[in-house]
Amino acid sequence: MPLDLVQGDIAAQDVCAVVTAANKELAGGGGVDGVIHRAAGPELLRVIRAIGGTPTGTAVITPAFGLSARGVRHVIHAVGPIWRGGTQGEAELLAGAYRRSLELAVQAGCRSVAFPAISTGVYGYPLPSAAEVTLRTITAFLADHPDLHVRVVLFDGGTLNVFRRAWQRVTA
Ligand code: APR
Repeated sequence: MPLDLVQGDIAAQDVCAVVTAANKELAGGGGVDGVIHRAAGPELLRVIRAIGGTPTGTAVITPAFGLSARGVRHVIHAVGPIWRGGTQGEAELLAGAYRRSLELAVQAGCRSVAFPAISTGVYGYPLPSAAEVTLRTITAFLADHPDLHVRVVLFDGGTLNVFRRAWQRVTA
């Protein structure tokens, strides 16, 4: 399965498309989004603000600007849901953010894409559930796109372990 779980920094990945965890206003933010924007430079914020927004559960694609020094060609700005207890369609919205990002990567001609754990920071999505939705959604997409390589980049060892345990549940 062309799916890797690694510990690392999302802004240091040598892939065709890097995904950032954006907000629906596409206004720029902290966390992963801050790291990506710092690495890409101010042009990225200008371009993304000009788009004006995208609904929760979707994503938009832009050039990678300063990240192209690493060989990255595109940044995909994915909007995951804010966790509201799990009764507001959060799982389907989170799956949608991953699915749309994967579609955009394929449409852009990419063979490799790296994701952070969308919605698991400021947006408060419980890690084990988010990991399961993430891995099920990516696995389903890869069944139809076996040439695509997907890397999920987890910031620390604890998060990586949660994702590894979720992987065991998903593949059981
Ligand atoms: N590389 C990989 N993962 C990272 C990094 C990094 N450099 N920095 C943080 N993370 C992890 C966090 O630990 C968390 O598990 O990324 C995950 C996502 O966290 P957030 O960036 O807070 O994303 P999210 O929960 O989707 O919240 C999005 O935050 O920055 C704002 O504008 C953004 O409003 C939006 C909201």
